[in-house]
Amino acid sequence: MTPTPIILDCDPGHDDAIAILLALASPEVELVGVTTVSGNQTLDKTTANALRVLELAGRGDIPVYSGADAPFMRQRDVAAHVHGESGLDGPDLPPASSAAQKRHAVEYLAEQFRAAPKATLVATGPLTNVGLAFATHPDARPDRIVLMGGSIGEGNRTPAAEFNIWADPEAAQRVFAEGLDTTMVGLDVTHRALITDAHTERMRTAGKVGKVVAELMDFYARFHKSHYPDLDGSPMHDPVCVAHLIDPTLLDVRDAFIEVDCTTGPSWGRTNVDWRNREHFGAPNAKVALDIDGERFAELVVERISSLK
Ligand code: BDR
Ligand code: CA
Repeated sequence: MTPTPIILDCDPGHDDAIAILLALASPEVELVGVTTVSGNQTLDKTTANALRVLELAGRGDIPVYSGADAPFMRQRDVAAHVHGESGLDGPDLPPASSAAQKRHAVEYLAEQFRAAPKATLVATGPLTNVGLAFATHPDARPDRIVLMGGSIGEGNRTPAAEFNIWADPEAAQRVFAEGLDTTMVGLDVTHRALITDAHTERMRTAGKVGKVVAELMDFYARFHKSHYPDLDGSPMHDPVCVAHLIDPTLLDVRDAFIEVDCTTGPSWGRTNVDWRNREHFGAPNAKVALDIDGERFAELVVERISSLK
């Protein structure tokens, strides 16, 4: 089996960190590079966190490129209420000994989008870096994007919008409008991709990495227990994208036409998803995840994270 090469464009972030670790633990994918963006926290913090997580897993050799420190047009607004002041609150993770690469993430992405064979882009933060790469390098495109963001139903940052798309709606619209092979993994499925306290306890005793992930989950679960008491665990948003590449049978995915609300009204950042061919018959510009086998997903996360020592 040849692993699928992936680049992770992310804003770690608890679930981004677990997405990185899931990729490192999985022979089906090969993480070739990490790019960081402002999102859950400021760019300096998301970059430091990506480096710390890679070193934790003994993979400080994977290059990290830092990218955009603010959205295209909107004001930057981080998610400290979910991820804490560091963006990765909970465990006592030492600062990384390595540093980010000198080149800007947008330049690295553009180079990779021109390379052969191309890596699949997994995007788990606001889409600022990707939108900028498309805008400044018209000849550079990935063959495939799997992104965490959006929702057919309700949002999490506002009633209408999910955080990653809300944070930079213009960039997200730029990405969907390209009509590439883009899969949107939204809240409709990630709110059914739950890690419970019982899952966390299994990881805690598995080894050094499992212990850190359990401490990340302890912090992350506090927010979800108070704000989403109707959920039986904490949503593992970003790892679902990686899991989809590891095992495509976990998700039910359909063609869709996706458009982002780029107004400044109360619904800005909403993803309008036409998957029933209401207005855009025969003209999908993306795919959308509709359903997930949540139990199999959670088992995959627990097993793979537990295998990291
Ligand atoms: C998304 O927003 C961030 O807080 C998470 O890391 C995830 O990418 C969920 O809405
Ligand atoms: Ca994220």
